[in-house]
Amino acid sequence: MPSNPPSSIPCDVKDLSLADVGKRRVEWAFQSMPVLQTIRKQFIKTQPLAGVRISACLHVTTETANLMMALRDGGASAVLCASNPLSTQDDVAATLVRDYGIPVFAIKGESNEVYYKHIAAAADHRPQITMDDGCDLVTTLHTSRQDLLEGVLGGTEETTTGVIRLRAMARDGVLRYPVIAVNDALTKHLFDNRYGTGQSTVDGIIRATNVLMAGLTVVVAGYGWCGRGVAMRARGMGANVIITEVDPTKALEAVMDGYRVMSMLEAAEIGDLFVTLTGNKSVIAKDHFERMKSGAILANSGHFNVEVDLEALGRMASSRRPVREFVEEFALRDGRRLYVLGEGRLINLAAAEGHPASVMDMSFANQSLAVEYLVKQQGSLKTTVFAVPEEIDKRVARMKLDSMGVKIDRLTAEQEQYLGSWSEGT
Ligand SMILES: NC(=O)c1ccc[n+]([C@@H]2O[C@H](COP(=O)([O-])OP(=O)(O)OC[C@H]3O[C@@H](n4cnc5c(N)ncnc54)[C@H](O)[C@@H]3O)[C@@H](O)[C@H]2O)c1
Repeated sequence: MPSNPPSSIPCDVKDLSLADVGKRRVEWAFQSMPVLQTIRKQFIKTQPLAGVRISACLHVTTETANLMMALRDGGASAVLCASNPLSTQDDVAATLVRDYGIPVFAIKGESNEVYYKHIAAAADHRPQITMDDGCDLVTTLHTSRQDLLEGVLGGTEETTTGVIRLRAMARDGVLRYPVIAVNDALTKHLFDNRYGTGQSTVDGIIRATNVLMAGLTVVVAGYGWCGRGVAMRARGMGANVIITEVDPTKALEAVMDGYRVMSMLEAAEIGDLFVTLTGNKSVIAKDHFERMKSGAILANSGHFNVEVDLEALGRMASSRRPVREFVEEFALRDGRRLYVLGEGRLINLAAAEGHPASVMDMSFANQSLAVEYLVKQQGSLKTTVFAVPEEIDKRVARMKLDSMGVKIDRLTAEQEQYLGSWSEGT
């Protein structure tokens, strides 16, 4: 691995002396990312990203570090900033700069102002490709840095909330370059959002609180991919899980999956632990806080810190104080106490380490191949939001199965013909 002198690498990280720990953790994650390793080996040979400037705005984790190395090894000149003020792993940021020569602008716990300063620093790289997790880099380029838009070939987007924002930009006619919705690949959201968020959200809540899940009444807001994962894992640990939804089909699915489904107003009175995963705002608000039991714990694992209305809760509180790392107590005027985890930011990244590497393996395989695709297609794609090509999605699934030693059947010629015909009946 090249080890450029840190002084020559532009960066703003907490402490470069954390790099030793970071390097070992990045190597640990590497072992569980066989698909990304295969792509990286191909990239080293074929150099598909030779000379391409990439600005990535992603959670700075051990898995992201491995993605950055794959891009670099494919010939790209890549820089990284955080996609959330609380999700950076400072040791990872340090090793990326010191040991791998990748410019990083990210410090865990940075203010909103520094967060956007770091995005501006990533934009200064004059990206030809943007990689986003939540669409903040794309938005920056489309507002304060429109001078850079001309040079952008395309972008990729990692998460549901980012894709929603991008589709709104495309609908309003303001999106200025094509973006691939990596989130929408089946090998992304079926696994990352469901199993990754499911496990790591419970992990974050437990690390923050050390609460016993068995016997707890857990209210999960949103029964999308992430909510399904959290509900499934909480139930597996013995919690009584209640689902709240606004979509009748998802609510019905939750009922038939065996959960209790009710409105948040009803659930507010009985929940011990509330977890929001909706991508929506004020899902838990004043009316709900008013009904909650003293001691109730509130966590969010949706992309932005808007799902729990913390301003309203702040106004209802006579005092607030930190009681443990990532746990803040709000003492209400009527004597009840409510506890908010990780400032209402995605708890799996704030208090734990985010998704396990073996699931990010597939998400970041999609990211790498999507970037390669964008470079190959340059100039020929329409300015809109694209799905990951099915061929890439299936390739990632096959590579993952291969890495697990799992063999599957293939269609025979007769079966293929049968599936494509309408004439054969009973
Ligand atoms: N924590 C993480 O690491 C992580 C990982 C992936 C995605 N995310 C984020 O999690 C959020 C959810 O993602 P997803 O892929 O599950 O999305 P999704 O669209 O599959 O599910 C969201 C669900 O929330 C429901 N919903 C919307 N408003 C609601 C409300 N007021 N009350 C109850 N339910 C409501 C929707 O009907 C939908 O079923 C997004 O913000 C996404 O970006 C976080």
